[in-house]
Amino acid sequence: MAVSVYAPASIGNVSVGFDILGAALKPIDGQVLGDVVEAYDSKEEFSLEIKGYFASKLPQDPKKNIVYDAFLGFKEYMDQKHLPVKPVSMVLHKNLPIGSGLGSSAASIVAAVEALNAFHDYPMNKHEALELMGKLEGKISGSIHYDNVAPCYLGGIQLMVGACNIISESVPSFKDWYWVSCYPGIQVSTAAARAILPLEYKRSDTITFGRQIAVFIQASHTGNATLAASVLRDVLAEPYRVKLIPGYVNVGEKAKELGALATGISGSGPSIFIVMKDLAKAQEMKAWLEQNFIQNEDGFCNICKIDTDGTVAKEI
Ligand code: HSE
Repeated sequence: MAVSVYAPASIGNVSVGFDILGAALKPIDGQVLGDVVEAYDSKEEFSLEIKGYFASKLPQDPKKNIVYDAFLGFKEYMDQKHLPVKPVSMVLHKNLPIGSGLGSSAASIVAAVEALNAFHDYPMNKHEALELMGKLEGKISGSIHYDNVAPCYLGGIQLMVGACNIISESVPSFKDWYWVSCYPGIQVSTAAARAILPLEYKRSDTITFGRQIAVFIQASHTGNATLAASVLRDVLAEPYRVKLIPGYVNVGEKAKELGALATGISGSGPSIFIVMKDLAKAQEMKAWLEQNFIQNEDGFCNICKIDTDGTVAKEI
């Protein structure tokens, strides 16, 4: 038996929901914007091969890869349940750049856990799988936050609930919004981008944060796109992270000129996103970003919609 799992890129925070909102992305031209993990029958307990454009940026020792940590986490779960773990040979197709703000580590983690789960005929339920994914993500970024793993796994826009034993719930998304996502080609580590944030915030900022996320969720449910877009602003992280992203200020100006609904930092950056309603303008924005924001040959830009499928597993 063999399985292949695709896990999409995601935007953490989505500006308005620091650590508590995330969105999965799907390029409209059908390009792959996510990681793939395959699991095959094997004679060894565990082996891992790393392929893909960004494979060379990862440690070559398989035991230093997060996929191995996913295997250990899965094994611990199976041991606790007295279930057998099958010897497995895994392949990671590392398509997403590391430290990009596109939920790269989340995509590898989610694809790996889901591949192991599918390979063993789903002993874990979705809640248990998501818990393990969050724990593994926390290992990499220094704190447990589900804003990439939840949308990557479940698809759509996800709100982290963290109460009544609910990790995350779906938020309706606006079908006619294009999300222009651009990775400039440089790396920013999430841990470093968190370290520069203040430990405490002014009362006025916390009130603005609470009002904006509440209004965004309410407007998403009532289908009021204008209202939702008007509060897609980040008062907690963006003011401090702007300095980590060369050229971000110019992006905002260009986006405004092209009638964008909102501009934001994707997760902890350096990727950014621009929300637009007009496809021709989104294409113009993409061309401008390719010309003016991308810094080297690793950078890329995609016009996306929200990926409502999330992670997809298939037998191969
Ligand atoms: N929400 C986290 C942050 C991770 O902004 O630090 C984003 O990928």
